[in-house]
Amino acid sequence: MNTDSRPEIVLGVGAGIAAYKVCELLRRLTESGHSVQVVPTADALRFVGEPTWAALSGRPVATGVWDSVHEVPHVRIGRRADLVLVAPATADLLAKAAGGLADDLLTNTLLTARCPVVFAPAMHTEMWEHPATRANVATLRSRGAVVIDPAVGRLTGADTGPGRLPEPGDILAAARRVLARGSLPADLAGRRILITAGGTREPIDPVRFIGNRSSGRQGYALAATALARGAQVSLVSANVALPAPAGADLVRVESARELREAVLARTAQADAVVMAAAVADFRPAETATGKIKKTGEGPAPVELVENPDVLLEISTRRARPDQVVVGFAAETDDVLEHGRAKLRRKGCDLLVVNQVGPDRAFGTEDNQAVILGADGSAADIPNGPKEDLADRVWDLVAQRLGPAGTAP
Ligand code: CTP
Repeated sequence: MNTDSRPEIVLGVGAGIAAYKVCELLRRLTESGHSVQVVPTADALRFVGEPTWAALSGRPVATGVWDSVHEVPHVRIGRRADLVLVAPATADLLAKAAGGLADDLLTNTLLTARCPVVFAPAMHTEMWEHPATRANVATLRSRGAVVIDPAVGRLTGADTGPGRLPEPGDILAAARRVLARGSLPADLAGRRILITAGGTREPIDPVRFIGNRSSGRQGYALAATALARGAQVSLVSANVALPAPAGADLVRVESARELREAVLARTAQADAVVMAAAVADFRPAETATGKIKKTGEGPAPVELVENPDVLLEISTRRARPDQVVVGFAAETDDVLEHGRAKLRRKGCDLLVVNQVGPDRAFGTEDNQAVILGADGSAADIPNGPKEDLADRVWDLVAQRLGPAGTAP
């Protein structure tokens, strides 16, 4: 039991080159008021030595089950922790944690800890994508551990791809979220979830389109948090420039009609559908095959026609009677009134209503919303990270889902 008023974090360091970035993470953890016990594996010390960890944490480093045996370190450290954070989590460490192996101090700690556990993986893309690693990650997530998706980018050698350690700031934010909330439930394990994200583009000619400001961040946060809670996720992504959450089945689309096709092809399998994408209501009646040129006689008007309303279609003609359908609404004024009317009109189970404006919601890191339920409920979500809003959406979806394993 931790008697210090500061949260006690066990920072497990795996044997990866990204250990050097974890020094910065450790500094930020201690500076932001956490008490940190560093537990590096023996091979991690080949990358960054004990004095560095001791100096940055201000505490002796715990390295072996045979040190201070009278204090039973392999049990004591895990029991005292409020959070165990493993970074970098190598493929080997993920495998050991999933398999319940305990051949050193860190793996013993992972078995004795009863607090939330966060893994920040870093490895080569092939290792991250290997079915063995995928299965280990799924096992850990189904038990409630948070496995952050690795970043996409330059790896140790000349290669690039998913496998980079997430930035220290992102790991810190995830650790804080988990500390504030406790362990994430694995309440979406075995569920199939379909999410749309981003904003559609409606082509005028081969170089121009009608688009909107949606960045896709909220939809991607929904995908990442659903994966963390054990779901199988299909992500229909319209024009998003973000790295895809690892583990999601990503389908890229451009226009509203492409999005509709991708969604309708997948609704029969989905336990829940969340329409976070900003779908254009209108499209040009015709798309010019060549670039429209200036004629000197002023601009030619672009005639618009209405796009199909995908949310309305899937809500009213449910592919499965027990399916939960969630819509999003972006409103600039009379937010609640418009939201309630839209919920009724669209026939969905939940509607997440955002107020948008020049600096609100679109493209920002944070989001504030009210989630309206068809049952008359309204949940106010204060301004915070888009992942927090996503988790609240999943809380409400999980309450409405029937028994698992009924999807065809
Ligand atoms: N939506 C959709 N198909 C469309 C337009 C919107 O599926 N053609 C979905 C969006 O994904 C979102 C919800 O409907 O989940 C609300 O979108 P919004 O644009 O706010 O609603 P509109 O129907 O356009 O209503 P209004 O024009 O009155 O704002």
